[in-house]
Parts: sequence; C-alpha cells; structure tokens
Amino acid sequence: MNLRRRLASTLLAAALLAPLVLTACGTPVMLSQQPDLNGPTPLPPDADQVEVFSWWTGGGEAAGLDAMIAVFNRKYPDIIFINAAVAGGAGTNARAVLSTRLQSGNPPDSWQGHAGQELIGTYVKAGQLEPLNFLYEKNGWLWVMPKNLIPLISQDGKIYCVPVNIHRSNVLWYNPAILEKYNIPVPKTMDDWFAAMDALKAAGMKYPLALGEQWTVMHLMETVLLSVLGHEQYARLWTGELDWEGDEVRVALELFSKLLTYANSDAPSLSWQDASQLVTNGDAAFNVMGDWAEGYYKELKMTPHQDFGWTPVPGTAGTFQFLSDSFVLPVEAPHREAAIAWLTLAGSKEGQDAFNPVKGSIPARNDADRSLYDEYLQSAMNDWITNKIVGSLTHGVVANDSWKTDINTALGLFLANKDIAVFQRELGRACMTSGPCVQGKGQHAH
Ligand code: GAL
Repeated sequence: MNLRRRLASTLLAAALLAPLVLTACGTPVMLSQQPDLNGPTPLPPDADQVEVFSWWTGGGEAAGLDAMIAVFNRKYPDIIFINAAVAGGAGTNARAVLSTRLQSGNPPDSWQGHAGQELIGTYVKAGQLEPLNFLYEKNGWLWVMPKNLIPLISQDGKIYCVPVNIHRSNVLWYNPAILEKYNIPVPKTMDDWFAAMDALKAAGMKYPLALGEQWTVMHLMETVLLSVLGHEQYARLWTGELDWEGDEVRVALELFSKLLTYANSDAPSLSWQDASQLVTNGDAAFNVMGDWAEGYYKELKMTPHQDFGWTPVPGTAGTFQFLSDSFVLPVEAPHREAAIAWLTLAGSKEGQDAFNPVKGSIPARNDADRSLYDEYLQSAMNDWITNKIVGSLTHGVVANDSWKTDINTALGLFLANKDIAVFQRELGRACMTSGPCVQGKGQHAH
C-alpha cells in the first residue's frame, strides 16, 4: 500500500468510528470507501482526494451515485472520494449549504448543478466556475452530448458543466391495481384526470393525489402550466414573451388550484419519497414526480405495471419536460486535478451507464448501452429523441435562482391564502423583477 493510500485509510478509519465527519466549514461528510485500520497519520490537506457535493442521499439516488463512485474508485485508486451529499429532495437543503460554503470561499471540488439557468444565470453569472471546453475537446464530448443541451450550458462559447443524465419531470405515476379495481382508464387529459379523482373520492379515497413538501407542489405546477399552455407557449413564459397575467396562465392556475383540492393535507411534512409511497401503498392513486421516482420504486423492489404505472402528465403527451444533473469545476477547486478526474468519469460512457440505470434517469450521452436500461427508461430514451423538449422550472432549466425564489415565494403565499388573482399578479411581478419581462408586458428584455 503506498503512503497516500495509507494516509487515506487512516482518515477512513476515523470515519468508521464516526460515520459522519465534518469538513472545515462544519458540513457533514460521508466517506465512500471501507477503511482499514493501518497507520495513525492524518490525511494532509494536499492529499489526492476529491470532495463531491450533491443531494443524492437516499432512495435510488444514493445507489446511483454509489455505482458511479465504485467505477471511480476502480479507475482512480489513488484518489480518495469524499461524498459530501446533503439530504433533501431537489437540493433544497444542499443548495443552502453550498451557498454558505461558496460565500465563505470553501467550495467542494465539484458539485451537482442543473443544466440551464441555475448554472448560467447563477453560478456562471457569479464567476464561480471554470469553463470546461478543454475536457470536451479532450474527450470528444461534443460528438456524444445532446446538441440542444450545449447552448443551455454555455456562455460566450464556454461550456460550464458536464451533464451526467437527463430526467423527465412531466410524469404521472399511478397505482394500476386501484385504477383497475374502479375501472378507471389511465387519464390522458385534465378532464379525464379530474373525472378519475372524482370517482376515487366517491369510492372513499380521501386524497387521490399524493403531494409532498413545497418544491413538489412547484413541480406539479410546472407540469400543469405545460399541459394547459402547450409546449410553445410554455417556452415563451421563460423568455418573457407570454403574459404571465393573461388568460392562458389564469386558466392553468385555476386547474392547478383545483388539483390541490385532491391532495393530502399533510403534504408539507412529506418528502417526495413519502409522496411516491402513498401511491404504491394505495393511500393515493396519482403522483406527479420526476423519473427519479422510478429509481426509488426499483430500490423498493416494486414491480412495474403491477405496483406502479406511468404516463405523461395529462395533456403533455409528446412533450418531454426535461432537466439535467451535471457536475461543475469551481474556479478554486481545492483539488483541481482530482476534480477533473471526477468530471472525466461523469462524462464517460462507463460512468453514465453505471449511474443512470440505477438512478432512474437516462444518460446525457447518446451512445449508451440501451440493454442496461429497463422498460421505463428505454421509453424515456425514445421520448427524449422524438418529443418536443421544454425545460423544468423546479429543477433549474428555465429560471435562474433569483427568479425561481420569487416564484416560490409567490407559491408559498398562494398555498396559505389560495387567492389565484393575487398569485397571478405576484407571478407577473416575479417575471418583471427577476425574470426577462419588462413593463408593458409580453415583451422580451434580453
Ligand atoms: C432533482 C435532481 C434529481 C433528483 C431530484 C430529487 O433536482 O435533479 O436528480 O435528485 O431532485 O431529489
């Protein structure tokens, strides 16, 4: 065993005694490798290690990450992988921790970020990232990454992240046995969906729609906006070309508001995993969630078509509302070379084919080994190349952090007062203050 490995083992031994250790800033860190108990010397600060920050701590997500870490450990046996994942769906907690770390000049070596405005309008705007064109050139990634994704992760010809997957947000998960029992067809339109939930309510199901904490409500909302507006008008919301205070958005908000009346009242205290489970245990019949729910169901050993079924959110068939998890290189990565090794793995076919079949996502690369992916994921692969593509709000594609925060604040108020008119006005205001809208509505401010 070489010296570096010995030192690393020592640190890992400490981790065995206390599964969580703290970094300099107090962030909990979980170490990914099993320790041996050799040697008392602590790991020096410049040792070859890479600290990777994400929010993949459970339910299919951690398993996917672990699968990729296993490949990393095999390929880079001299680099210690430090898994700095912070729990909380959609990164709600992790991103707050990350922001504190970035403010205090203590970045991890690489972090999970969403392709799109979260990347460009937030981290790149703040000058926090190194461009990665050199990696794209070295690895030939421009030939294998989706052509429509590159502009969303670039500014002024510089590419700022390595996409590891593509997720779909507009998926309706349902309980097939319940629909069958009450002879309810899988809903294709909003009307079908309301009829199905009315029938279930009449049959005694109190809350046919499963919902979790507030980001899952925003997630539902983005899919309803897509359903009512259609893909072209939905896309115009994010360029400032469609009036947030107009009739089309009002109709969408009314339907969204009506949908909420079918949802469980304890939603704010439930994680997305809890909400997903309400469907499979039969307490609810429907849940709108990204396809990481499939990774979770697989982790729970659920059987497709029996324990859970899927269909596009009613009214959105033919459109793929996407997001992409990616990894970045901060300008002052403490272990830049090791971070580059991680990014190289994240962008590789081997890394993506280890991660995505477990995570419940499809690879960003177009040369994956399809045979590794299950039926749902193969259908998502087909849809990704044949459907119209629009971006997710909740998961960072279409709005930067400040606009999304304003929308989230308006949503929080709406959930408290249920006033659609005020909600719509606040959404209009959010587009004016943090988004691309300008006074005189419907205009494009870029
Ligand atoms: C998303 C992320 C997914 C998944 C999900 C639930 O924001 O892109 O990979 O982690 O949150 O936590």
